[in-house]
Amino acid sequence: MEKKLKKLSNRVNLFLKKYFSKFNSSGLIVPMKYGLFPGGKKIRSKIIFDVGKIFKVKNKYLMVLAASVETIHAYSLIHDDLPCMDDDNLRRGKPSTHIKFGESTAILAGNSLLTTAFEILSDKSFRVEDKIKSNLINLLSRCSGQAGIAGGQYLDLSYEKKKVSIQKILNMELKKTGKLFEFCCVAPLIIKKNKKDLNSFSKLGKNIGLLFQIVDDLIDHKGKIKFAGKKTKKDFKRGKATIISLLGYKNAVKYANKLKQSIYNQLKVHSSNEAYELRETIEFIMERKK
Ligand code: IPE
Ligand code: IPE
Ligand code: MG
Ligand code: MG
Ligand code: MG
Repeated sequence: MEKKLKKLSNRVNLFLKKYFSKFNSSGLIVPMKYGLFPGGKKIRSKIIFDVGKIFKVKNKYLMVLAASVETIHAYSLIHDDLPCMDDDNLRRGKPSTHIKFGESTAILAGNSLLTTAFEILSDKSFRVEDKIKSNLINLLSRCSGQAGIAGGQYLDLSYEKKKVSIQKILNMELKKTGKLFEFCCVAPLIIKKNKKDLNSFSKLGKNIGLLFQIVDDLIDHKGKIKFAGKKTKKDFKRGKATIISLLGYKNAVKYANKLKQSIYNQLKVHSSNEAYELRETIEFIMERKK
C-alpha cells in the first residue's frame, strides 16, 4: 500500500508541478510549494482513483480532481498549524510553513492554495461539460467553506476545553475532515453523470473521512512523532474535544472499528473486484501510523 501511495503521490505531484510551472514567479510560490509537495500521504487522491476505478472514470479527469483536492488539503494544514489555530511547529517532519516563512506569508500561501484548487477545476485544459464543471466547483466550495473545512475548524477551536456531546464532536469532525472525503467519493460520479449512486457514495465519503479523523485523533494520543511527522499528544494539551476525550482511548478504538465495519457493509453491493482498491485503502486508513 505504501508503494501504491508513493506512486500515486509522484503522479499527482508531477501534475501539480506542471501546473505551477505556468505561474509567473511570485514570492508566494515557494511557500505554497513548501506546504503542498513534500511528505503528504495523498490519501484523498487515492480515494478519488479508487472510486474512479469502480465507475471507470478516465485517469486524466481523476488527476484534475486529485490536484484540486490536494491544494485545498495543503491550505487547510498550513492554516491549521498557525499560532491562532493549533499552534504547531512541525508538519510532515519539517517546520510548519509559518515557522519557515512567517505567519503572514503562511496565511497568504494558504489562501492562494485554496484558490488554486478552483483555478485547476475551471481551467480550460479540463475538458468536461460546463455543467459538470460547475457542479464540481459548487460541491468543492461547499465542502471547503463554512459548511465544510472552515466551519469544522471553527467548531474544533470553539470546543477546546469544553465538554461537548458525541453528536457535536462527530458533526465537527465530519465538517472539518469528512466533507473533503465526501467530495473525493462523489466527484468521480459527477463526471460520469451517475445520479443513482450519488447518495450512497456521499454517505460513504463522509464516513471514510470521519474514520480518517478518528484515527488521526488515535495517532495523536498514542502515536510517535517519528512516524507521524507531527507532534503527538497535542490534542490533550490543548483540551481538544475528541471521541477519545469523551469516551476514552479503548472506546474510541471500538467506535472506529464499528465505523469501519459499517463502511465495509456499505461497499458490499459493489463486486469485490471493483471495490478491492477502495477496501484496501480503508484498511490502510485504519492501520496507519501516520
Ligand atoms: C491530516 O491529514 C489532517 C487531517 C485532516 C486529519 P493527512 O494525514 O492526510 O495529512 P498528510 O497530507 O498525509 O500530511
Ligand atoms: C485538522 O485536524 C483537520 C483539518 C481540516 C486541517 P487536526 O488538527 O487534528 O490535524 P493535525 O493532527 O494537526 O494534522
Ligand atoms: Mg486542528
Ligand atoms: Mg492540528
Ligand atoms: Mg490531529
